[in-house]
Amino acid sequence: MTPVHLVVLAAGLGTRMKSARPKVLHPVAGLPLIEHVLRTADALNPASITVVVGHAADTVRAALTGRPAVRCVLQEPQLGTGHALLQAEPALGGATGTLLLLSGDVPLLRPGTLHALLQHHAVTGAAATLLTAVVDRPDGYGRIDRHEGRITAVVEHRDATPEQRRIREINSGVYVFALAPLFEALRGIGSANAQGEYYLPDLVMSYRAMGLRVETLTLADPREILGVNSRKELAIVADVLRNERNDALMAAGVTLVDPATAYIGADVEIEPDVTIHPNVHLEGRTRIGAGCEIQSSVRIVNSTIGAGTLINNFCLIIDSAVGAGARIGPFAHIRPESSVGDGAHIGNFVELKKTAVGRGSKANHLTYLGDASIGEGVNVGAGTITCNYDGTAKHRTTIEDGAFIGSDTQLIAPVRVGRGAYVAAGSSITDDVPDGAMAIARGRQVNKEGWAEKRKKPRP
Ligand code: UD1
Ligand code: CA
Repeated sequence: MTPVHLVVLAAGLGTRMKSARPKVLHPVAGLPLIEHVLRTADALNPASITVVVGHAADTVRAALTGRPAVRCVLQEPQLGTGHALLQAEPALGGATGTLLLLSGDVPLLRPGTLHALLQHHAVTGAAATLLTAVVDRPDGYGRIDRHEGRITAVVEHRDATPEQRRIREINSGVYVFALAPLFEALRGIGSANAQGEYYLPDLVMSYRAMGLRVETLTLADPREILGVNSRKELAIVADVLRNERNDALMAAGVTLVDPATAYIGADVEIEPDVTIHPNVHLEGRTRIGAGCEIQSSVRIVNSTIGAGTLINNFCLIIDSAVGAGARIGPFAHIRPESSVGDGAHIGNFVELKKTAVGRGSKANHLTYLGDASIGEGVNVGAGTITCNYDGTAKHRTTIEDGAFIGSDTQLIAPVRVGRGAYVAAGSSITDDVPDGAMAIARGRQVNKEGWAEKRKKPRP
């Protein structure tokens, strides 16, 4: 096949989204709309990728910096889809071959469909090939007008006669063009229509007048061409993507107790025999090891969970790593740059921040561990607090292997508790504790014998 140059239109305003955020950057299944489109196109190995930006151009450009192969071209002002494609001409630098045109707001297309479209285009030797679909509710779409079976025009909804509005075959907005006649013909398109815009689909009429061949390929599953123009359509598309993703996970050996409420991002990896309870959100580059159990109402972002670990209800874990056979929660908050070793326990109302907890260590109740290095086999008693912030700077706490921190201890950083050392409950530790020592740092208790009786007696 000839090289395929990809152009993605993403300059439109997206008025119906009623959003300050450009439409193509609204996330579905954890990725911006346009990223879904680009990933589908990746499968075709395009010779070049050009994205036409316009509305909120800088924001869209910034969102695409992770894709160095993408060239952005500016369409300013935005005068319609035909005008948008024309802006890509300089970026293509006289390239020959085939151009595939996609919209940044149509995220459900499958690579197989695009392959079939390119194939059909190549085999028929067409100058333009449109992907069409027959739908129950064609409102808003351009209608495919045919004469004796052959496409003669695309009529936009707003320009269509009542009779044309009854046509149920629609233009998906996905096209393949032979590059040779394309830009010259685009320059000849007018804007005498209901919206005063340069309509890309008007090429169909121009090509027919020029005697060039126009082909169509009609989709079997019209859901694939669902475009996102409103928040409602965003939710519909998200639902389709979630169902596909969850079906694939279940087929790969993951139990989803309630697939309707399992929200698992496109880049999340889950090994077999993981059980995911209702209302779980797994986001970003999260990896869940085999046999884990994730209880309900848990959110895990960009984190790794080792095999056989239990994440109990209502935990939030962000940018962190949890080892194998660990137990987390319920109600634990593991903040960025933390790690929890194999077999460790982080219990209810425990917060970690930039803290490493070693293998087999336990912090089971009501504890804050921030900027701390905690060794192996350490027991952190209930209500322990690392006082890591002095109002100006953050300081580190180190607790060596096998240490025992009594309940309700404050560790005033910077401070170190030595290997195998003990800290008595209720201590405020301001100085390092040597290996094997016992530190006690609290007011001494005084018992006043008979005090209560004396209090009751009336004064003479
Ligand atoms: C378009 C098609 C219609 C088709 C439908 C499929 C035209 C005139 N109509 O209509 O036949 O049924 O898609 O979804 O093409 N864009 C720009 N610059 C512009 C205008 C639009 O980049 O000046 C981009 C938009 O950001 C969007 C895409 O082009 O990604 C389609 O534009 P949109 O306004 O949504 O076209 P529709 O009215 O949906
Ligand atoms: Ca649209």
